[in-house]
Amino acid sequence: MNILILGSGGREHALAWAVKQNPKCDRLIVAPGNAGIAAIAEVAGLDILNGPLVATFCEENAIDFVIVGPEAPLAAGVADTLRAAGILTFGPSAAAARLESSKAFTKEICDACGAPTAKWARFTSAGPALAHVRAAGAPIVIKADGLAAGKGVVVAATTAEAETAIAGMFGGALGAAGAEVVIEEFMAGEEASFFVLCDGQDVLPVGTAQDHKRAFDGDTGPNTGGMGAYSPAPVLTAALQRQALDRIIRPCLAELARRGTPYQGVLYAGLMIREGQARLVEFNARFGDPECQVLMMRLGAQALDLMQACAEGRLAAARVNWADDHALTVVMAGRGYPGPSAKGSVIRGLDRLPEDSRHMVFHAATAIEDGQVVAAGGRVLNVTARGATLAEAAREAYAMVDRIDWPDGFCRRDIGWRALARA
Ligand code: AMP
Ligand code: GLY
Repeated sequence: MNILILGSGGREHALAWAVKQNPKCDRLIVAPGNAGIAAIAEVAGLDILNGPLVATFCEENAIDFVIVGPEAPLAAGVADTLRAAGILTFGPSAAAARLESSKAFTKEICDACGAPTAKWARFTSAGPALAHVRAAGAPIVIKADGLAAGKGVVVAATTAEAETAIAGMFGGALGAAGAEVVIEEFMAGEEASFFVLCDGQDVLPVGTAQDHKRAFDGDTGPNTGGMGAYSPAPVLTAALQRQALDRIIRPCLAELARRGTPYQGVLYAGLMIREGQARLVEFNARFGDPECQVLMMRLGAQALDLMQACAEGRLAAARVNWADDHALTVVMAGRGYPGPSAKGSVIRGLDRLPEDSRHMVFHAATAIEDGQVVAAGGRVLNVTARGATLAEAAREAYAMVDRIDWPDGFCRRDIGWRALARA
């Protein structure tokens, strides 16, 4: 099978790493990829937001299966174009991916099927939004409706903060994504992520994870795309997973199917857990990054079979072979992240690290300059390990971190603290 993965981050490196272990995979191309991915797969410069271009590339390279990594090509309808061209594709249509690309759409779907989530209201101008915030008080959550690369949500502790967020969004700070704003009740609790595959009909859970969104130890500092993750998430007990499936995930997917836009691909449910109840925070139409890295480390080669079964509508007969294991990934970022960080600093020591089924450094943003690996973005490396316990996975991951020589990088030293404290 010739496989094309779209994307260029740690998520896509992890997808490529898992797919490549499967003997079904003959040729593997990642577009556009990065320096770490180039070490295990072919990479191709390709505008992955241009569906017709991707379809032509697939025909020219006899691609049998496309796996779409990030949300932007999904929202741009790339999966629709590929499927229309007869190319087997893992990833939802643009219409179904609105579960990620429009916060208000997801809220409508929840309301239509009674899925538990925060109370909400939508606004298209600042005046009524400000009035709503003044009446409701803080804490309160302000969200740009559209895709905003992780910058579209403000959890406001005070009404002043909420007012600033509203002014910014309607002032055009996030472009078209902020033309409509959703204001939500603040939900307290513990957050965890639940990943399921859906083939339009059937649903197959493929793992739970928790990430750490704040930049610094002790969950302090600015919000980021995620500084580390681990799987499984002990807070998502079997009972809570069942509850989330029965009350949130299946009803929402059924509502999409009822509207004529069935969902095919991975659905990432961000859940807030409190007093034994799960409520939906958000859906994403893709694997999380860095959550995908720990899921792939645990699933290994079977990830390809599962994604293929999903794309072919065969999930009813698919099963996950679970090992009783744990995986943890530590994000190493450039100093300054999530603000601007210097690019081009040299990273040494990667070639001394183990690369096997229990240890892998996934590259999120690297390049090769003069034969050396250099940083090429904010989040740069995902140092990932698997163990019989979470403590073992954490020990192994940090042992690798300690052997990486990158003075311009930083990481959190406490990834997994919540689950480790529980154990
Ligand atoms: P989202 O992009 O919707 O995932 O929002 C980013 C983060 O904001 C989430 O991961 C939560 O930590 C937080 N958040 C979003 N909505 C709420 C809410 N209604 N109550 C509390 N926290 C929220
Ligand atoms: N790590 C959070 C996300 O991928 O959205």
